[in-house]
Amino acid sequence: MLDGKRILLIISGGIAAYKSLELIRRLRERGARVRCVLTEGGSQFVTPLSVGALSGEKVYGALWSLTDEAEMGHIQLSRDADLLVVAPASANLLARMAAGMSDDLASTVLLATDKPVLVAPAMNVRMWLHPATVDNMALLRRRGVLSVGPNDGDMACGEYGPGRMAEPHEILAAIESALALPERPLAGRRALVTSGPTHEPIDPVRYIANRSSGKQGHAVAAALAALGASVTLVTGPTAEPDPAGAAVVRIETARQMLDACLAALPADIAVCAAAVADWRVAAEAGQKMKKGAGGPPALALAENPDILRTLSALEPGRRPRLVVGFAAETESVLRHAADKLARKGCDWIVANDVSPAAGTFGGDRNTVHLLRRDGAEDWPPLPKAEVGRRLAAAIAAHLKDA
Ligand code: C5P
Repeated sequence: MLDGKRILLIISGGIAAYKSLELIRRLRERGARVRCVLTEGGSQFVTPLSVGALSGEKVYGALWSLTDEAEMGHIQLSRDADLLVVAPASANLLARMAAGMSDDLASTVLLATDKPVLVAPAMNVRMWLHPATVDNMALLRRRGVLSVGPNDGDMACGEYGPGRMAEPHEILAAIESALALPERPLAGRRALVTSGPTHEPIDPVRYIANRSSGKQGHAVAAALAALGASVTLVTGPTAEPDPAGAAVVRIETARQMLDACLAALPADIAVCAAAVADWRVAAEAGQKMKKGAGGPPALALAENPDILRTLSALEPGRRPRLVVGFAAETESVLRHAADKLARKGCDWIVANDVSPAAGTFGGDRNTVHLLRRDGAEDWPPLPKAEVGRRLAAAIAAHLKDA
């Protein structure tokens, strides 16, 4: 499987470094060539001697060495690999990667590379959950850095929680899938994705909105882009960062969203994940409405355009080949979703449970069912990013077969 693949393994400081020795063995068993960089922290936990003996190659150290630089410069070291793997990735090295620092060989190589990077974080649970690390990881993922783990469990420091480095076999599986990445089955396809809530103004300072975070829609856009699609993301106001590789169009109201979607056509794929407000205020007040003696004002509502239905009903040629809607339901999820598939005229519905108990809104996980015209698939509870990847993979498979 890994025959002839060249892995540059960066071992940073952490008790989990002993597992990286096992990783080297397993990689070599599968035919990979493993060259290692040991940071100063890493060399507190494993020795250059054991790393060198297992990898069968010279081990590169923390400090600049003129001899190393003459034999193999840091740029060449970073490019002369198919994949860079950082295992264990300490909080410190992740922070230096996020900041773009190059103050030792490992960080310099990571900054200089043009190859995919996979990190296997390992640290104390509090360090992993600290907002600084959370932000650093989010930033790195946005830049396309792949990650595996950490796992939950007992830690060497006596605490319990997420922070244990993924096991060697899990890192191996992540390496295998990372090396398969260049496959871009949606290359040449155009995709339109809607995401987030809409804001419907009442007057210049007030609006009607909903609790959609945009996380799921943005994850779908990122996943389609990762498979090579050229993606336009039309999004209402959200705090989500722009997904890597998507052209982002920001709107506020449902009517603006519809206009932006129509302007983004033609597209092969449309995924409507936005939580579009069903109604807007019929007559938006030109000035801020005042509290008065007459009591609260009555708000007359008007119906918003249904973007999913409009896209589904476009004439052949303008209609995207595959139109996917989302159904957020708080009860009888599958039945209501099946009704929606029929009513909206789309091809697939991703149905999810948004009852408060499910914690979907604003949360990072989602439990969904994929309804096609010929049947339903139940997916296990998954991170929203993974739901996005599975949906993108299903879309790619569908367009390949069609
Ligand atoms: O009718 P409901 O809002 O439950 O349908 C949800 C699906 O329809 C989602 O895919 C949503 O993005 C889409 N939708 C839309 N325009 C609307 C209302 C919903 O595109 N005005």
